[in-house]
Amino acid sequence: MEALATDILIIFKREGLNGWEFLFRWLHVLAGITWIGLLYYFNFVQVRSFAELDAGARNQAVDKLASRALWWFRWAAMATLAFGILILAVQKESGTDGGSQLTSGDYWKTPSGVAIATGILLAVTMFANVWLVIWPNQKKVIANARNVLAGGEADPDAAAAGRRAGLASRQNTIFSFAMLFFMVGTAHFFGNFTTADSGNRAIYWLITLIIWLVFELNCLGVIGGTGPQGTNWFYEDHKRAIGTGFVLVVVWYLLWVIFF
Ligand code: HEM
Repeated sequence: MEALATDILIIFKREGLNGWEFLFRWLHVLAGITWIGLLYYFNFVQVRSFAELDAGARNQAVDKLASRALWWFRWAAMATLAFGILILAVQKESGTDGGSQLTSGDYWKTPSGVAIATGILLAVTMFANVWLVIWPNQKKVIANARNVLAGGEADPDAAAAGRRAGLASRQNTIFSFAMLFFMVGTAHFFGNFTTADSGNRAIYWLITLIIWLVFELNCLGVIGGTGPQGTNWFYEDHKRAIGTGFVLVVVWYLLWVIFF
């Protein structure tokens, strides 16, 4: 028994092999697919199905189905972030000072460092959208559905809250394609690019931050409001969101070809 325990632990101690990193990587992807799988369920399946239900059935579905899906959704987002940070904390290979990538300034200048930083920018924004926009607004929708089912008055703000959550959810769908492109590409693709000089890196980050900010402000209604018109065009239909997500991937790939 003791020999088996030693054999199991040896994988975590062997020189050049980082068992903890692998463990956190696996749990990170497991949590990530749970989160993003539910995001796609909400966007591609639930929104359209709920729209076809009558009010009574929809309130039942919000109470019994959406509330449970949202529990897994937000806590999977939390676990994804936690395991992502743990990967950074224990991953040492690229840290030039032998420290973790979280504390190694040089790592963030390498192509892999820039790629994962871009992925993390998008993923942390998506996480903030889940916990600060989608969940607080969905809580109002769920409370309203339960109240109406119990015979109470409908909350006049519930529809607007659902709309705010829906816009952030659509934006998360759009960001998710490029986010995953960078997550997966960090170890399997972007390492092959040449290290960009600081000028090119600065322009890359400037353009990246502008794209990120414009989209995020748009889904929050700061740009273009919350109505269905203008810059909210690509939120109105899941196919438009999918198309926009792919276009963003192509744009980011071109930025890499130009600047790295
Ligand atoms: C919430 C914030 C997130 C953080 C801080 C984060 C952080 C990281 C880090 C540090 C890595 C390792 C990169 C490397 O060196 O190869 C990684 C890889 C990865 N992440 Fe994330 N991530 C986040 C969100 C997500 C989400 C939402 C998904 C969705 C599924 C995801 C999926 C992946 C995948 C598939 C890999 C690549 C695993 C591999 O190639 O071995 N991440 N992430």
